[in-house]
Amino acid sequence: MTATGPIEPVDAGTAVVRPPLRRLHVKTWGCQMNVYDSERMTELLAPLGYAPIDAPENADMVLLNTCHIRERATEKVFSDLGRLRDMKTARAAEGLPTIIAVAGCVAQAEGAEIAARAPWVDMVVGPQSYHRLPEMVARAHRAAGLQINTDFPAETKFDLMPQARGAQGAVAFLTVQEGCDKFCSFCVVPYTRGAEVSRPVSAVVAEAERLVAVGAREIALLGQNVNAYHGQGPDGAVWGLARLLARLAEVPGLARLRYMTSHPRDMDDALIAAHRDLPALMPFLHLPVQSGSDRVLRAMNRGHTADDFRRIVDKVKAARPDIALSSDFIVGHPGESEADFRATMKLVDETGFAIAYSFTYSERPGTPAAAQPGQVPPAERAARLQELQALLRRQQDAFNASCVGRVCDVLVTGTARYPGQIAARSPWLQPVHLSGPASLIGQMVRVRVMGAEPNSLAAEIMGNSQTGEQQAA
Ligand code: SAH
Ligand code: SF4
Ligand code: F3S
Repeated sequence: MTATGPIEPVDAGTAVVRPPLRRLHVKTWGCQMNVYDSERMTELLAPLGYAPIDAPENADMVLLNTCHIRERATEKVFSDLGRLRDMKTARAAEGLPTIIAVAGCVAQAEGAEIAARAPWVDMVVGPQSYHRLPEMVARAHRAAGLQINTDFPAETKFDLMPQARGAQGAVAFLTVQEGCDKFCSFCVVPYTRGAEVSRPVSAVVAEAERLVAVGAREIALLGQNVNAYHGQGPDGAVWGLARLLARLAEVPGLARLRYMTSHPRDMDDALIAAHRDLPALMPFLHLPVQSGSDRVLRAMNRGHTADDFRRIVDKVKAARPDIALSSDFIVGHPGESEADFRATMKLVDETGFAIAYSFTYSERPGTPAAAQPGQVPPAERAARLQELQALLRRQQDAFNASCVGRVCDVLVTGTARYPGQIAARSPWLQPVHLSGPASLIGQMVRVRVMGAEPNSLAAEIMGNSQTGEQQAA
């Protein structure tokens, strides 16, 4: 049997000439959607002879898949580009060409800026144009100068991108929805990812089946507004996320499912009921609320109140009592007063989060919030963040401690740091370490949780579970 590595050319049925081996280094920032896109782009470049390597040194092509969400994320890209210029110059002195490509949300938002600040970049490609990468790379081989491709084409990129086919781990990402029509005051995503698009159900199911065939046991459905999913069903009707999840739960070999990121406005009763009715749906919900103040939520254009969020949380907890709640918060949005911040602290205190991500507001050029009055001084933003994070930390510790003694099914994802130890993920998404053989990787294993640490759990194996159901003690 011949090895079918990542450089295997697409076999069109006739003899294929193997292109020369080229080394590709991909660096990914930002959300899981970028992780998913980086995997697809790597697969897309394989037929051109590009095989992935871990470090940028000696790479024939470096692809930066970037994030524009906060100022710091963007600045990191430019500092990496500075280092890459030196590498490109050193390689050129040895007669070796290097292609430098910038993809992702910085590419989309700042294509012209990249061209001006980093003229050694060979191509800039926005998230809706990744299927054009091979053509752009082929042209770069012919040294055609800087290429920019950041259109929002009419055809969806999903129809044109390769499907997942390489070896996967036990957890796989699957993008089902992309883009955002909500235009929160502070956010660049509607500008960088374009309008909301949902993939058809049949395409999602086919991809899920393929992912399971190459080893996935857990699939995380991705979308900037994943719970706004409205894909065309095989029956011609429009399916919501709840119906899609129910269909995916039937995929043989798939043990569990989750989805992110959701918006409170789209958290409908059918989806909440899915948390009660679908054993494969993990008891984990990431539902960003951003603020606990109605005044700030209005300034943010979120389209919901703090009480709307409380009502959703109550319903979700009633449907799935052991649900782990997660959220995102921004402190220091323009106009946020001390009283507004107190309202956020109160909401957090009442809700109880298993984990949460919190940020100081970062001004993004071109977004409505950047022009709003009442910008909060940076020192005030930082102080509020510190206070919020201390509370969230206590809640995370309390949640982890509450898991001790529970019996549950975990998914073994790999080996751990110490010999004889394996790493797993709990139904509530905490990393779990336990003693066990590496042969369990990719399997659901029933464990008892024995201890809690700040960011993980320790557990003991009770016996293999073939059911794939999570069970809370
Ligand atoms: N679609 C998701 C958010 C994607 S961005 C949603 O609607 O919730 C991930 C998180 O980054 C957001 O939830 C928000 O908390 C944070 N974020 C976005 N823009 C930001 C900004 N300008 N400054 C600080 N944090 C921001
Ligand atoms: Fe950004 Fe708001 Fe859309 Fe989320 S819902 S991606 S925060 S604009
Ligand atoms: Fe960042 Fe773009 Fe994702 S801005 S968070 S990479 S959608």
